[in-house]
Amino acid sequence: MMSTQLQSYLTNAQTRQLDELIAWLRIPSISTISAHQPDVLAAAQWLVENMRQSGLENVELIETEGHPLVYGDWLHAGTDKPTVLVYGHYDVQPVDPLALWHTPPFEPTVRAGQGYRQEGDDLYARGSSDDKGQTFIHVKAVEALLQTTGALPVNIKFLIEGEEEAGSQAIGLYVPAHVEQLAADLCLISDTGMLAPDQPVITYGLRGNWTAEITVTGPSQDLHSGVYGGATHNPNQALCELLAALHDKDGHVTVPGFYDQVPELSDAERALLANVPYDEAKLLADNGAPAAYGEPAYTVVERIGARPTLEINGMWGGFITEGFKTVIPSQAHAKLSCRLVPNQDPAEIGQLVEAYLQQLAPPTIKVEVQGRPGSPAYTASLASPAIQWAAAAYQAVFGVAPIYKREGGSIPIVNKFQAALDIPIVLMGFGLPDDNLHAPNEKFYLPNFYKGIETSITFLQACGAQTKTD
Ligand code: BES
Ligand code: MN
Ligand code: MN
Repeated sequence: MMSTQLQSYLTNAQTRQLDELIAWLRIPSISTISAHQPDVLAAAQWLVENMRQSGLENVELIETEGHPLVYGDWLHAGTDKPTVLVYGHYDVQPVDPLALWHTPPFEPTVRAGQGYRQEGDDLYARGSSDDKGQTFIHVKAVEALLQTTGALPVNIKFLIEGEEEAGSQAIGLYVPAHVEQLAADLCLISDTGMLAPDQPVITYGLRGNWTAEITVTGPSQDLHSGVYGGATHNPNQALCELLAALHDKDGHVTVPGFYDQVPELSDAERALLANVPYDEAKLLADNGAPAAYGEPAYTVVERIGARPTLEINGMWGGFITEGFKTVIPSQAHAKLSCRLVPNQDPAEIGQLVEAYLQQLAPPTIKVEVQGRPGSPAYTASLASPAIQWAAAAYQAVFGVAPIYKREGGSIPIVNKFQAALDIPIVLMGFGLPDDNLHAPNEKFYLPNFYKGIETSITFLQACGAQTKTD
């Protein structure tokens, strides 16, 4: 339980901590747009400064081939206390379509909660939920503990990256090369969601991913569609034909071999996932689509968490601005991403998709597939005591036990933490299903920001109550 001293510290600190988060959110740290590179750097520097002020030590900005990492620690709890590694990301997704934002993405705005939330404000800004707001929870938990007690119940290390939304390449190289610096007993991550304000979730699985850009080339330059149409395969049309062949009418991916390594769900896991109070009606209420889609033999929760997918993230080609132009474009483009489940190897899936696209390609066009290194899926063992401390912390602060769920999103670095550092990972999220991640009007439900800080403190205290035996 938190002391009254801590509680009154947090009450007094609320407005300032929110103001700090707002200042951080003003920096447009979009990692995948090169023009924003200075902003990504500025967001890292801002975090360095804030972590120092919050009482963390050895805080440094670590240059990489890509965007910088931010490291900081506090290691005075004693060698008999566990060390917690906190991970998060300070980069954010692009903001387009900008016109659909009710307030500008980098002018954070607090508005009263709507929808199924009875009370409480939302903070609207790109990165508010994913993941600056959730990362900041742990920085402010450390601040509160150090300011009130002068110490932390555990040793702690922060490693915060700036290219999670770009595939986590730099941190992926850094972690295996710095296992001593990062040595810890468990890893704590808040970059996932809850089901509702009163239903916390411990995520025990994440999907992996593989992404690629596809280019279809027909004629060597754009052509008059009257002069050449009918005798030249239009690349836009050819691209549609190719992409349309990647799924059957039930939503199965048709790429040969795509499901070969996919394990069938056990009855026990299907029963666990059946406890998740989420169904087609809730899905449609959250996403606004006219009807659900996907493999009929699987529930919505299974489709999202435990089945692989292939998505078309973007497609373009030809004349798309105002006016009209009767043209056969030279090229058409698409961006694809696959979500992968355990046992699927991203590189192998990439080869299968590429081979199938080449096999489908008619002789009238050329197809080029530029794949990027992906990341495999992740599953946690629910048996680790750290998961139990997280469950107890949620229970103490939210008054409800968490449910256990597999998530459809990816956090590419988690496997490397597990493999290189050999530690359990706790995915303790505070986002909500209607936070509009990656979409216009991203927001963070502010009561979850404040409760998140309390949950983090409670979790760290539970960790600290353990004495290490090794
Ligand atoms: N925080 C998300 C992942 C996530 C979202 C987990 C929802 C659970 C629920 C993360 O920032 C993210 O968006 N990751 C990307 C990774 C990709 C760019 C390699 C993703 O999943 O698309
Ligand atoms: Mn995230
Ligand atoms: Mn994200």
